[in-house]
Formats: sequence, structure tokens, C-alpha cells
Amino acid sequence: MFVKRFGVSLEEDMLVALDKLVISNQFPNRSQAIRHLIKNNLVSESWDQNKIVAGAIVIVYDHHKRELNNKLMMVQHDFHDLILSTQHVHIEHDLCLEAIAVKGKSQELAKLADKIIGTKGIKHGKLVMTDLG
Ligand code: NI
Repeated sequence: MFVKRFGVSLEEDMLVALDKLVISNQFPNRSQAIRHLIKNNLVSESWDQNKIVAGAIVIVYDHHKRELNNKLMMVQHDFHDLILSTQHVHIEHDLCLEAIAVKGKSQELAKLADKIIGTKGIKHGKLVMTDLG
């Protein structure tokens, strides 16, 4: 398959983390590590059968980022039917952690998580899902 090259901009600590992943997994290079991360993401997507599931979206962000709190609140109101509760923790002077408990069709939860985690200013975020069986 044709391989394309592209530029990636990363904070230095993120690049250090990527290089650690390369070493710990014995990847031959950074491209292989990124390929591995993308593939993991695709595999977990294919597990998705769109059943009713429950889970949590956990995000970390700097509350000083302009308009971020407001944007997060608006998204959560837009998707109130999927959100059971939101817990906000001030983990450091500048850093907030939010654990958003969710329940609904897994594809809808995945979309909501992408929207929240993709919001500009979010440092890190992850959706964890479980089934109800
Ligand atoms: Ni806070």
C-alpha cells in the first residue's frame, strides 16, 4: 500500500512519551508506534455493536483555557440524555479532571466522547465503556 508522509507537531513531553513507547514495544521507529496506536483505535471501534452500554468519559484540562469550561458545559447540555452525572475534581492549581458518567448506544457515546475529547484545550481524555450484561 502507498505510504504517505505527514508532519506531526507534539509537545516535547509527548514526544518523549512516544519514544518510550517505541523502546518498550521494540518498534523499529516512530511510524510503527503511531501505526500501532491507530490500529488499536480501529480495532476497538470494530468491537462496537451499538448496544446500550454504560461508561465514563474522563478528561483533563486547564480551566484557564479561554471558553473551554463554557464549551464543555454546552456540549454536556446538548447530550444531557446520555449523561448520568459529571464529577469535577480540581486536581492541581491549574488542572481539572472531569469524570462524566454516560449511558446509551455505544456509537452515540463514542461520538459524544470524540466531541468532548476533541475540544481545543483538552490535554487528555478517554472513554471507557462496559456492557450491561
Ligand atoms: Ni477545576
